[in-house]
Amino acid sequence: MADGDCDVLVVGSCMTDLVSQAPRLPKAGETIHGHRFFIGFGGKGANQCVQAARLGAQTAMVCKVGTDFFGDKYIENLKNNSVSTEFVSQTDRAATGAASIIVNDAGENAIVIVAGANLLLGEEELWGAEPLLGRAKVLVCQLEIRPDTSLQSLRMARERRVRTIFNPAPAVADLHPDFFRVSDIFCCNETEAEILTGSTVTGPEDAGKVGAELLRRGCCSVIVTLGPQGCVVLSAEDSSPLHIPTATVTALDTTGAGDSFIGALAFYMARYPTISLEEMARRANQVAAVSVQAVGTQTSYPWRKDLPPELF
Ligand SMILES: Nc1ncnc2c1ncn2[C@@H]1O[C@H](COP(=O)(O)OP(=O)(O)OP(=O)(O)O)[C@@H](O)[C@H]1O
Ligand SMILES: *[C@@H]1O[C@H](CO)[C@@H](O)[C@H](O)[C@H]1NC(C)=O
Ligand SMILES: *[C@@H]1O[C@H](CO)[C@@H](O)[C@H](O)[C@H]1NC(C)=O
Repeated sequence: MADGDCDVLVVGSCMTDLVSQAPRLPKAGETIHGHRFFIGFGGKGANQCVQAARLGAQTAMVCKVGTDFFGDKYIENLKNNSVSTEFVSQTDRAATGAASIIVNDAGENAIVIVAGANLLLGEEELWGAEPLLGRAKVLVCQLEIRPDTSLQSLRMARERRVRTIFNPAPAVADLHPDFFRVSDIFCCNETEAEILTGSTVTGPEDAGKVGAELLRRGCCSVIVTLGPQGCVVLSAEDSSPLHIPTATVTALDTTGAGDSFIGALAFYMARYPTISLEEMARRANQVAAVSVQAVGTQTSYPWRKDLPPELF
């Protein structure tokens, strides 16, 4: 990438989803026949990066995949979405991250995630990507890689005045307190907010309360996403929670909606830095609402051309 042309840099995960649909979930030792199999591109880091790219952000991914078929295909997928793969590395010490998913006819699932190569992303790769990190507009991180790698990339971004979005997913109860101090926007869903605070979240009112508690831990802003209820936004300057409802739509598949929201948020922060956080969240709600109306994860993410011009 040339100087100054990185809007959104994601340091995070790539996972291949191997999905089998069967009438029911097999018992231990049992073999059953399913009726459909497909491979999907997932991993929270790559999902968020692909959504930002499809909206028109210049993006790059710092991640690790295996020197294997799935790793090669993942790199091809990123290229197909115009994501820079200059800092995607391949290792023969672990396989590309994979999620083996079985879905039964009732829509329930059983999932085994093997993070594999994602857990080998570390300091060396961060320093390799440092020149680009220093000139990105926004850095986005999650917790599907080693937490110390995420925390270090957020610290490096902070030191270089790059804006940061941290998504504490999947949630952990014992999150290092420094994550809050290096996050401009701390964006989580209801489950993650509950695990981090120990308080139940069922709607905008609870979300406002836990959001205020998370805000006190030292980030600049908090967003708690609430599925069909949109999200709640809080900022240090004005800590009164703002509920931002979203459009009522017929949801077909909500998988990856949270990642679509965060990818869109990163796009708006990078490309429309002067609009309010409230307005960015309102627009990110609209992007994510489109993603729930189609099946799949990345396959459901809209491109700029599919969206109303008011969003840009
Ligand atoms: N049924 C829905 N109708 C409209 N918008 C939705 C719906 N579900 C999710 N969204 C949008 O997606 C955003 C994120 O959803 P949610 O809070 O469920 O995240 P998540 O739990 O991380 O998602 P997932 O785990 O399903 O990927 C919401 O803030 C909202 O904008
Ligand atoms: C990338 O795009 C090409 C051209 O459309 C297509 O043939 C290929 O299958 C795509 N690769 C992946 C991994 O999706
Ligand atoms: C929140 O995200 C986690 C992944 O971190 C997921 O397991 C959980 O189902 C999500 N919660 C809701 C309410 O969607």
